[in-house]
Amino acid sequence: MGSEVKRMRPRATLAVVGGGVIGLAIAWRAAETGWRVTLYDPAPGSGASHVAGGMLAPLSEGWPGEELVLDLGAASLQRWPDFAARLQQATGIDVFSARESLTVALDGADAADLRTIADCVGRQGYELRIIDRAGLRAAEPALARSARLGLLAADELAVDNRALVAALRRACAGAGVDLVERAITDIDALAEEQVVLAAGYSSAKLWPRLPIRPVKGEILRLRRRRGVAPGPSRVIRARVHGRPVYLVPRADGVVVGATQYEAGVDTTVTVGGVRDLIADAQAILPSVAEYELAESAAGLRPMTPDNLPLIGRLTDRVVVASGHGRNGILLTAITVDAVLAQLEGNQLLEAKSADPQRFTDEKERR
Ligand code: GLY
Repeated sequence: MGSEVKRMRPRATLAVVGGGVIGLAIAWRAAETGWRVTLYDPAPGSGASHVAGGMLAPLSEGWPGEELVLDLGAASLQRWPDFAARLQQATGIDVFSARESLTVALDGADAADLRTIADCVGRQGYELRIIDRAGLRAAEPALARSARLGLLAADELAVDNRALVAALRRACAGAGVDLVERAITDIDALAEEQVVLAAGYSSAKLWPRLPIRPVKGEILRLRRRRGVAPGPSRVIRARVHGRPVYLVPRADGVVVGATQYEAGVDTTVTVGGVRDLIADAQAILPSVAEYELAESAAGLRPMTPDNLPLIGRLTDRVVVASGHGRNGILLTAITVDAVLAQLEGNQLLEAKSADPQRFTDEKERR
């Protein structure tokens, strides 16, 4: 009986440069779909992904003129339950930390803004619910008495960013991703057939024409002490003295965010930043004064000029998945699908607004 030697086609090789949530998620899913993946990052999960609030809040952040950002975010939010279920199946880790978000108004100007958001989002076909003062009290008894109107997003989830990094790392290991803890300085020196550039604001150093700049954000992690009243059960967002503030539930307390500075590559936590975050959080939820100040940290958001990310082909070999700005965690789910489509030679229509060629074309038209 002759023995038949089966020849396996060698798997195509993929380098993912950057091990934040975007790079990790792409590496995991690409490996699951058959690519031989190497992920390069000197310290995976330690950048913006480590500092994120984890809100998946495209509707609450809706605003006239930002409709493309809203649509892209909503398309990603829709994908999150399946994405998270698949991740939980692969790792046993549930990454969700809240299931709704509530934006509150403290004065008349804030209340008018909430109505503007509700109208804008409604025109795009999504729904937010206005909640009156009594409804606010019933929903979140710990809210400040000055909260006068609310906007409830019943489907806006929140994710524990650090649980997400841990889950994605485990999923990558399970799918056979080779993790190389080394900084890449030259994409051309990589041996893999295809490359995904997912290095956050550092992507612009590796591909200098990418319009991505770092925008600093500081956050606090507050831990609830024994005997202190329970914190919010959903994400709470507001403006205090014109500054946006959010409180995102965690198993042991809340993440409070975030400041925003155009300060270049600077991750120093400032006294003024911490002071404002504490004061603003307390204006919304007075009981946070009783919490333990467990951590303060700063990260660098990779921002683009139009607040949309860059997801798509730069060349036949290189796909970019960077520039997610304030929405890296939210946009992880759609970015993975868009990049997997690109690697197969297709384009995901829902992510068309993120095509990096929009900046190239604009330059060439001038
Ligand atoms: N993801 C929220 C922020 O960047 O502040």
